[in-house]
Amino acid sequence: MSRKALVTGGASGIGAVTADRLRADGLDVLTADVAGAADIELDVTESQLVDDTLRELGPFDVLVNSAGVVGPNAPLWEVPAKEWSRVMAVNVDGPVNTCRAVVPGMIDRGWGRIVNVASIAGKEGNPNLSAYSASKAAVIGLTKSLGKELAASGVLVNAVAPAVIATPMNASTAPETLEYMIARIPMGRLGQPDEVAELIAWLCSDRCSFSTGAVYDISGGRATY
Ligand SMILES: NC(=O)c1ccc[n+]([C@@H]2O[C@H](COP(=O)([O-])OP(=O)(O)OC[C@H]3O[C@@H](n4cnc5c(N)ncnc54)[C@H](O)[C@@H]3O)[C@@H](O)[C@H]2O)c1
Repeated sequence: MSRKALVTGGASGIGAVTADRLRADGLDVLTADVAGAADIELDVTESQLVDDTLRELGPFDVLVNSAGVVGPNAPLWEVPAKEWSRVMAVNVDGPVNTCRAVVPGMIDRGWGRIVNVASIAGKEGNPNLSAYSASKAAVIGLTKSLGKELAASGVLVNAVAPAVIATPMNASTAPETLEYMIARIPMGRLGQPDEVAELIAWLCSDRCSFSTGAVYDISGGRATY
């Protein structure tokens, strides 16, 4: 029987391309998103709804947390509290909610793969993207904690940390912020979503067996650690 995967943010960008890539690996994939053409409409910030929905549609063997928002492009002191909270709700509470719902079943079955889409911003901090950078640092921290909690269970939890990737997300990023980010990539170009999907597909497979709580750089050489 094929393994079942859930990809949040699966209607667009990295999530959509990852869903296709996992299908090519033979997985039975469900995409979840608040907008666009996903298999199920789901707001990952709604913890009870996420719990009920995933328990009903599961069990899931693979979870890819790709849903995310950039949030405000502004210096920290100009970021309204409400916008800060929204970025944290989607980018941090979202993966926590989905993990809470699927992890117990993965533990019971003794196998699982979770991939959280973090960002290089979470390691380095991008100016005028403090909420986004802080949220992705939190994703890295929660990946490391959960990876250790599950290390002996057969459930592996890893994160990917892309630099700027050519997806609709960047349509709302200020041109000078985008320029700043590309200028820091030694390869001198944007990444493509299929390049990220390839790494995620490996992390979701049996081919990945001795990594957990790890953060995989996919940044055209930008990451220095
Ligand atoms: N594009 C980049 O440059 C880049 C770089 C590093 C990390 N990332 C991360 O990659 C992930 C995917 O981003 P992308 O570039 O594919 O962007 P995208 O905007 O194309 O896709 C993100 C998807 O998440 C969905 N989403 C937003 N809020 C949601 C919610 N509350 N519940 C469910 N779905 C929700 C959106 O509707 C959208 O379809 C994000 O976590 C993002 O932070 C992107």
